Amino acid sequence: MSDGIGRWRVACHRPISYDIVEAPRLFHPQHRALLSAGRIENGRRFLVVDSNFARHHAEEMRAYFAHHRIEAKIVLFPGGEENKRVESYLEIMRELDAFPIHRRDEPIIAIGGGVLTDVVGFIASTYRRSVPHIKVPTTLMGYVDASVGIKTGINFNGHKNRLGSFEPPVRVLLDRSFLKTLPHRHVLNGVCEIIKLAIIKDAGLFRLLEEHGAESIAAKFQNPAGAKILDRAISAMLEELALNLFEEDLCRSVDFGHTFSHGLEERHEARLLHGEAVLLDIAVSTLIAEGRRLLSARETARIFRLIEELGIALATEVLDAELMWRSLLERIEHRNGLQRVPMPRSIGNCVFVNDIARREIESSVRALTGRICVQNEPILQR
Ligand SMILES: NC(=O)c1ccc[n+]([C@@H]2O[C@H](COP(=O)([O-])OP(=O)(O)OC[C@H]3O[C@@H](n4cnc5c(N)ncnc54)[C@H](O)[C@@H]3O)[C@@H](O)[C@H]2O)c1
Repeated sequence: MSDGIGRWRVACHRPISYDIVEAPRLFHPQHRALLSAGRIENGRRFLVVDSNFARHHAEEMRAYFAHHRIEAKIVLFPGGEENKRVESYLEIMRELDAFPIHRRDEPIIAIGGGVLTDVVGFIASTYRRSVPHIKVPTTLMGYVDASVGIKTGINFNGHKNRLGSFEPPVRVLLDRSFLKTLPHRHVLNGVCEIIKLAIIKDAGLFRLLEEHGAESIAAKFQNPAGAKILDRAISAMLEELALNLFEEDLCRSVDFGHTFSHGLEERHEARLLHGEAVLLDIAVSTLIAEGRRLLSARETARIFRLIEELGIALATEVLDAELMWRSLLERIEHRNGLQRVPMPRSIGNCVFVNDIARREIESSVRALTGRICVQNEPILQR
């Protein structure tokens, strides 16, 4: 509407809502969850499926769609950070374009880890300027983090997730049994994000990890305590994401562990998984927080004890204070001019700081390297 002086205003509020639903035995022919958000009669579905996951589930997946007489085009995608690139995005896009789907009622289905759901989410957000998509995480990282929010992305120009979008899925379907085939290293990779949430947000989750973390890792989260941990981690994650879906507020507690890790992850893509880089950042940040009296010596010790008891080895050999300082400077651009680094204030609470100095990173890196060396020495030599 014109205000009479040659100026028009457009204002629109688009409501966002989507369900994250536990859907055990997802490919059982009687279960409709996979088809629920779209047309079934004469329906078609374009699926992108992680190839390691498909090794275990391809047959039941094809049988499922055949049973429901859905024409399914299944594109296999190899996963792994090295495949999160523009070329993969374009290749899948070409396959999609060659297999037409209705713009509204034949949602794309993304079944895989965080790499796959990030790439396919970006495809969904850009194909015909947005078509609906469903996410089905098959890694722990996807289950508690990558699939539950609305961020998509691909790596570009040597930077992680430099191209991306905010694209809400129509649904996220969780089948915990998919984690059974996940390699141990990738189970731990997801656990690193759960540790993040526990330290910065949920002291109860931290205690659960102390009491049942090791047993749940061994059971690949198929045990009752493991289910409880996952449930609590998703709830904690969503509490933070839901109020700030589009990141209007750049102070985000879930960015804990995601400041110095960026540079490490970009430099050591072949060596570090996302969660492993995040945990290194968490360890250094914990020592910085202790130096600032945000964490007591006892709380700091508790955090390192938990990491050790869960059997996660910190890759301290890649720590590099200069690289981590530069990563912080780059994050200042990303966070619009301020550091806005989330730090734990005791376990389970968060504050934001804007004045981390290079020497704090240097001394924490030195202290962490020393700490791990001492821990690794045989007890008699200590
Ligand atoms: N969008 C977000 O909000 C968000 C949040 C956190 C992480 N991420 C992104 O997630 C990515 C990491 O995700 P990831 O750790 O799941 O990596 P990934 O997708 O590469 O999967 C890890 C490995 O597990 C294999 N795999 C997947 N499911 C399996 C199964 N059920 N059984 C056996 N093997 C299986 C894959 O083939 C791959 O080799 C990073 O790129 C990160 O940036 C995004």
